[in-house]
Amino acid sequence: MRVLAIESSCDESAAAVLDSDRGLLAHELFSQIELHRVFGGVVPELASRDHVRRLLPLVRNVLESSGTAPRGLAGVAYTAGPGLIGALLTGAALARSLAYAWRVPAIGIHHLEGHLLAPLLEADPPPFPHVALLVSGGHTLLIEAREIGRYELLGETRDDAAGEAFDKTAKLLGLPYPGGPQLARLAGSGRAGAFTFPRPMLDRPGLEFSFSGLKTAVLHAVRAREMSDGVKADVACAVQEAIVETLAVKALRALEQTGLDVLVVSGGVSANQRLRARLAEVVRHRGARVYYPRTEFCTDNAAMIAVAGLARLASGQHDGLAPSGLAPSGLAHTASAHGGLPIEARAQWPLQTLPPLA
Ligand code: KG4
Ligand code: ZN
Repeated sequence: MRVLAIESSCDESAAAVLDSDRGLLAHELFSQIELHRVFGGVVPELASRDHVRRLLPLVRNVLESSGTAPRGLAGVAYTAGPGLIGALLTGAALARSLAYAWRVPAIGIHHLEGHLLAPLLEADPPPFPHVALLVSGGHTLLIEAREIGRYELLGETRDDAAGEAFDKTAKLLGLPYPGGPQLARLAGSGRAGAFTFPRPMLDRPGLEFSFSGLKTAVLHAVRAREMSDGVKADVACAVQEAIVETLAVKALRALEQTGLDVLVVSGGVSANQRLRARLAEVVRHRGARVYYPRTEFCTDNAAMIAVAGLARLASGQHDGLAPSGLAPSGLAHTASAHGGLPIEARAQWPLQTLPPLA
């Protein structure tokens, strides 16, 4: 089985082709970072317009470089949510139109399921069941992943996501968007212990997170003194420590609570080297193992959407778009009988509502 996948939930346009026998055959990505940088954050309307420009050439490229003809596809997977609604709709419209024209099924994929399954692309994939720590720009979740499609939420953030905390504090330090990787780089030259910021919710039982207090603490620290490059690096170091320690303690707690000995970490913040070093200590101490996607698949990409798409198509799931290949008797007729081409995307979409695989 071979699947084409499209990702457009935020500020990355991406396409990939994954084959169940031969693995990942092609993946391409266009990052809109330069487009949004002057605004200090993602401008949704600009993101949507740029996806419209970028997606089709990316799709052409991955089909060509993987030697894939449309008739060789088992389906087209696309990110249907959660994310920026306009951005999502560009990918959904393209994916469903291609599927319609090629008469193959389309399948809308949950962006976070993509992140969760990204480590399955590696040579040594994590076994199920496992605890997943999903740390991205929009989400911070601890999940018990029983198998593909069966996810139980153990805890999540009450306010800002971990990536958002990195980005917002980076902005307070005057670092350019996107701040997370920049702050991590600066933290490397800071002195540990020069500042100490709150480790939110660590003193309470449970697996919830809260990161919004961190920006207030950093704001006070920044306002109170002259900010030399050295002091900035010290602040960055303390911010990173506070976030990393909070994530590490809660991840350990989740392993203890579930009795599982496999931890999977994914999403943009899982690229953070300090987090990886700290989690390595935590799991070693417990006799557990930790798995990550390769660095380029920590942040948004289409390869991860292809993994989820292939798993769901293989189990017989799809969007139920009647005209596509499933109704050989007259495309136009079937299309009109169904009132045209339904294109749906969801800005909000709780992960726990996903159907299990058949
Ligand atoms: O998963 P992702 O690409 O997009 C979302 O679905 O949100 O995650 C992006 C987030 C941003 O907040 C970015 O600053 C953060 O991941 N990030 C990092 C690092 N690389 C990306 N945060 C800390 N350290 C990094 N090395
Ligand atoms: Zn993401």
